[in-house]
Amino acid sequence: MTIEHLPNHRPTALPTDGELRRLVGLVEHDDSVDPFPVAGWDALVWVVGNATQTAHYLESAFGMRLEAYSGPETGNRDHKAYVLRSGAARFVITGAVDPDSPLVAHHDRHGDGVVDIALEVPDVDRCIEWARTHGATVLVEPHDDTDEFGTVRSAAIATYGETRHTLIDRSRYYGPYLPGYIVRHSHYQPRAGTSTRLFQAIDHVVGNVELGMMDRWVEFYRDVMGFTNMAEFVGDDIATDYSALMSKVVANGNHRVKFPLNEPAAGKKRSQIDEYLEFYRGPGVQHIALATGDILDCVDTLRREGVEFLETPDAYYSDPELRARIGHVRVPVEQLQRRGILVDRDEDGYLLQIFCKPITDRPTVFFELIERHGSLGFGKGNFKALFQAIEREQEARGNL
Ligand SMILES: [Fe+2]
Repeated sequence: MTIEHLPNHRPTALPTDGELRRLVGLVEHDDSVDPFPVAGWDALVWVVGNATQTAHYLESAFGMRLEAYSGPETGNRDHKAYVLRSGAARFVITGAVDPDSPLVAHHDRHGDGVVDIALEVPDVDRCIEWARTHGATVLVEPHDDTDEFGTVRSAAIATYGETRHTLIDRSRYYGPYLPGYIVRHSHYQPRAGTSTRLFQAIDHVVGNVELGMMDRWVEFYRDVMGFTNMAEFVGDDIATDYSALMSKVVANGNHRVKFPLNEPAAGKKRSQIDEYLEFYRGPGVQHIALATGDILDCVDTLRREGVEFLETPDAYYSDPELRARIGHVRVPVEQLQRRGILVDRDEDGYLLQIFCKPITDRPTVFFELIERHGSLGFGKGNFKALFQAIEREQEARGNL
């Protein structure tokens, strides 16, 4: 990999507003009446055991592109941080260099995972003032960071487990990521014929919380961050014969940021949420849904690169009820079946989705790919099939 010092950094092409509207299902919203206006996702910051190799994996398998870096070569002796992007989605992958880095203890406890769901806000101070008076724990007070590319204003509040939300206003900043980071690209060359971008944006980020805590965190997002309830799934919605969970979804004003929150529910056997809570040692980010404009191409490419997906039984596709429910979708159902892609329809349209197996050693974090066609939902009609697939995996791990 090469390190460059380029003052005229050009950010990777972003999806247009129209593309985003279609990809992630935005709705109209008036920010001026919002107590906590959120413009969108800024970045998902991960702590992993080997940032150098995770960054390479996200480039080679998921088609992300390295664009910035911080590490010993830039004066950061504590850890390495690789900033990768695909469309509007930005991941920051951090790993300890110094054995005494605080990242070591975090990784020791939780394994690889997301520590910071950073959000872009137009007014950091206004958000923090609102959050503080409504019960938030402010972890980092509003402050400026400046370098030759300008000034970033940011602060951070705590959310579930050891996860945080950094709130960032980068309207006065033109650097590659944050002060202290340099532009960095890699020599990685995608295979000939691979799409330039497999996914374009983050659609939603799911949090798993302990039994009885889901409503508390729904209230937190409502009271502290001005989010609104979008959907809820309780009882039979998300139950198989063996395990169950409850889920509620909160979203910011224009639905750019959507947080489903899951808690385990009583079942005959152990819920997948219980398994997560045990292996992550508490609440945390369970899955990240990546919005793609072509899920078929995306799945084909990821599979070719060795990414594993949950399997969908053929019975799912031959079920006459499903066939009747989904109606016409953009490709023949056989093409979805060949790839194990799930389909769901609601009053607004339909969506195609598929779930990867955990990308971490622990059975914790995984990705979803989602291609929306009008539907603002989360694939409620697929929950049962999905959980049966997860249970087969849990069983194989000896955790059911
Ligand atoms: Fe999801």
